[in-house]
Amino acid sequence: GRVAILISGGGSNMLALVDSMTGDHPARPVLVAANDPRAGGLTKAAHRGIPTAAVDHRPFKGDRAGFEAALSEHLDAAAPDILCLAGFMRVLTPEFVARWSGRILNIHPSLLPKYKGLHTHARALEAGDTHHGCTVHEVTPALDDGPILGQARLAIAPGDTSETLAARVLTLEHRLYPAVLRRFAAGDRSRIDLD
Ligand code: GRF
Repeated sequence: GRVAILISGGGSNMLALVDSMTGDHPARPVLVAANDPRAGGLTKAAHRGIPTAAVDHRPFKGDRAGFEAALSEHLDAAAPDILCLAGFMRVLTPEFVARWSGRILNIHPSLLPKYKGLHTHARALEAGDTHHGCTVHEVTPALDDGPILGQARLAIAPGDTSETLAARVLTLEHRLYPAVLRRFAAGDRSRIDLD
């Protein structure tokens, strides 16, 4: 399969996915695209010989469809059959999501359905949760709401801050997302749980 990855920043999840697609893996990366030309992940992808694209979302302020049309030109050229959102911080329109329905994944840094949206680590700490983690799910029009394909959990440690927690969850993300993508690319949608 052909995988395109959308990023907004450093792209550590993108890198974990790219580095997992070797050997007998059923998929290969064909594009890394960012909504910010300064995204550090673009350089990492280029160093690995992966085609990249940057579509700055700022000129499209208030024109989400216009941004997606520009992004789609690059996606159509790469012709991926799977789209992975990896630290991608833009909300996609229902029309865009519908076009990729069943072929678009996202990783979210919480144990969904808890803590959809932003600031997930601070919210888990604030709630006094004993556990936290990350989720890979199929993307549907509602934010952070699609069928769950995998979760990874960890125990919140005494003294954890949102920064220390975010760092430990990120390490879990780098394990979970490649495991889910490998299975998904092989046509297997059974759920993975890493504890
Ligand atoms: C991180 O906060 C991660 O938890 C979330 O997106 C952010 C950036 O990730 N998934 P990345 O390093 O750009 O993959």
